[in-house]
Amino acid sequence: MKKILALSAVIAAFSFSLQAQVKKPVARKKPLPAKTGGMAASIVRGKVVYTSVCLPCHMADGGGVMNLNPPLIKTEYVLGDKTRLVNILLKGFNERIEIEEQQYSNPMPAVAHLSDTEIADVLTYVRNNFGNKAPAVSPLEVKTIRAAK
Ligand code: HEC
Repeated sequence: MKKILALSAVIAAFSFSLQAQVKKPVARKKPLPAKTGGMAASIVRGKVVYTSVCLPCHMADGGGVMNLNPPLIKTEYVLGDKTRLVNILLKGFNERIEIEEQQYSNPMPAVAHLSDTEIADVLTYVRNNFGNKAPAVSPLEVKTIRAAK
């Protein structure tokens, strides 16, 4: 019994010293950034996604290519219903549409391989760039719409 007590005392002391060691590096000198998320950060990330995925078709200024790829400037799709907008990216889009008296009938391929966050970011960017102003799209909204398909 004495041996066991002594042993457990040693183990306790050992684990205490381990804890003390483990805790040390966790102590932060710098405070965490106050805001790691937020709309501004989403827009910054969204621009990166836009540049690599959407820009080749919709162009750097969102102006598109006449009769080929529609503009993303103040269209009802960009500013309107979020579910429809998210589904354009998740499912692709193949409808004969008219924007500013121009016809567009080329199909847009789905970009469903993008993560929920990437889709939220790129749409938040598009909805708040090119002269657009509309509420952000959140990763949770994308996740919900993806699950509902
Ligand atoms: C391969 C070319 C291509 C890529 C890449 C592409 N699109 Fe499109 N997009 C199109 C075409 C073509 C249409 C029109 C489809 C139709 O007429 O049915 C369209 C339509 C749209 C629309 C609805 C119409 C409008 O102009 O408001 C939105 C919104 C949109 N795209 C956003 C995006 C975003 C955001 C990305 C990047 C994640 C993207 N697209 C990537 C070609 C593309």
